[in-house]
Amino acid sequence: MDIEAEIRALQLDSAEDGTGMAIPEDAKPEEVEMTDKVEEVEMPDKVEEEGTKDEVDTKSQPAQDEPKVKDKEVAPLEDAEGTDEMESQKKRHLNVVFIGHVDAGKSTTGGQMLFLSGQVDDRTIQKYEKEAKDKSRESWYMAYIMDTNEEERVKGKTVEVGRAHFETETTRFTILDAPGHKSYVPNMISGASQADVGVLVISARKGEFETGYERGGQTREHVQLAKTLGVTKLLVVVNKMDDHTVNWSKERYDEIESKMIPFLRSSGYNVKKDVLFLPISGLVGANMKTRVDKSTCPWWNGPCLFEALDSIEVPLRDPKGPFRMPIIDKFKDMGTVVMGKVESGSICEGDSLLVMPNKAQVKVIAVYCDENKVRRAGPGENLRVRLSGIEEEDIMEGFVLTSVVKAIPAVTEFTAQLQILELLENAIFTAGYKAVLHIHSVVEECEIVELLQQIDPKTRKPMKKKVLFVKNGAVVVCRVQVNSLICIEKFSDFPQLGRFTLRTEGKTVAYCLKDFVRRGKQIVVRLFLLCYISEEESSRLLLFMLHYGSIDLIV
Ligand code: GTP
Ligand code: MG
Repeated sequence: MDIEAEIRALQLDSAEDGTGMAIPEDAKPEEVEMTDKVEEVEMPDKVEEEGTKDEVDTKSQPAQDEPKVKDKEVAPLEDAEGTDEMESQKKRHLNVVFIGHVDAGKSTTGGQMLFLSGQVDDRTIQKYEKEAKDKSRESWYMAYIMDTNEEERVKGKTVEVGRAHFETETTRFTILDAPGHKSYVPNMISGASQADVGVLVISARKGEFETGYERGGQTREHVQLAKTLGVTKLLVVVNKMDDHTVNWSKERYDEIESKMIPFLRSSGYNVKKDVLFLPISGLVGANMKTRVDKSTCPWWNGPCLFEALDSIEVPLRDPKGPFRMPIIDKFKDMGTVVMGKVESGSICEGDSLLVMPNKAQVKVIAVYCDENKVRRAGPGENLRVRLSGIEEEDIMEGFVLTSVVKAIPAVTEFTAQLQILELLENAIFTAGYKAVLHIHSVVEECEIVELLQQIDPKTRKPMKKKVLFVKNGAVVVCRVQVNSLICIEKFSDFPQLGRFTLRTEGKTVAYCLKDFVRRGKQIVVRLFLLCYISEEESSRLLLFMLHYGSIDLIV
């Protein structure tokens, strides 16, 4: 099968499996029905079976690059008490992550969107202008809407993912402003894993597009990670079109578009169906809420950013599936409050749920969507949920709030099928290889403990020979081990909770480029892996691509 045909097959598969594009009438939030409500909490046998014998170590140290997400508009939850299901809940909801190389203009564009949609008033903007000037960062004032902490403002760099909300006539948006700097990629991963749609911000300024696009630049890394993490649609905004080195030049725009298209295609995006390019200036707000003036940009006949966002179709979600909400943060506020995005199912005040992997039985006291208290919420929503029955210190990022029936499995080991694509000089892929595993909100050190079988890439059948190490192009089934229990799903059940990324020493070593393909009854995850051995460990560099990898078996 050629690559185009495979991509088409993937899209058909993903449409069937819940990551497709169209939203059916019965999946609208206002029509959500509760399914997993359990009156009497009893530990289901399944949980016992699927968990391992290991004790949960809730005190274990977070992995080296634990992600950070901050909320830009944290309203005290009590302010919202008494609010019932909001009218706005009837609108569809989209989670949009801003990604791209450092200084591309993500925070500026995100801030401008909030300003243009009336979330920020003129007085606040004037205050930010003054503050930015005092810090000798005049042009950063729009970014200050998203970059709220002092470190970010002083350095002019986003560190933690910023979160904010705005609405158009048809859609409620949660925007997640990821950091572009390479040191904060774990935070970007956390932001992207909560999103369905990505706005890839590219600077058109002379030299800046080139730096982001070159090997090692975050334009590439972010695109590949976004695809891995389930960001199904991309708006590529060619930003800084107002800059004097660009001056709304059609040639510059076309150059960027023509270089990006093959790269996006090779990263697994269908550029015709899933990607849209448009020129903007985040700083002056051009081609954002309204189309850019012809006197400024006579050649642009396409949509503005708000129009493009409004026209994106929401991925299909299952409000009736088992409840799954990976926890990205927690705090104390009249009980224990956990934050996260609902990946499947619905949640209702009064529900009895489990926090996995520690199997803690909890009761839902209140559910908050944005700043509003709601009676129930469905998949795709970013929520804060107040729980009883658990202390804040007994929860860690990466734990999952789950329905009691069909609770999420917790494991310390799983088997994945990988293909090594490229292996540089002196590098070997063998038992003992260590990396950091990123899966939904989990960040955990992992080790390849055993190579089980080498697969013939042509016939896809296991080879008889015992395998101790593999070389370029090999397909291999491995056992992957983590130190503490983690919640993980089979790809066939929940691709969003089954995709993983491997990183070592701050570099991305593995990513899932294509969602999954069906082969007979088996669902196979397609992974591309890039592995680097750290400079400290060795100067050797591993470059792997995992191809047709899958979580076939949860041990
Ligand atoms: P990180 O969070 O550090 O990854 O950066 P970022 O992508 O959020 O960029 P940010 O919004 O902080 O902007 C970086 C610089 O680019 C600032 O000086 C902005 O004023 C400038 N900038 C952003 N958008 C535009 C634009 O449309 N035109 C011009 N001329 N400058 C812009
Ligand atoms: Mg920023």
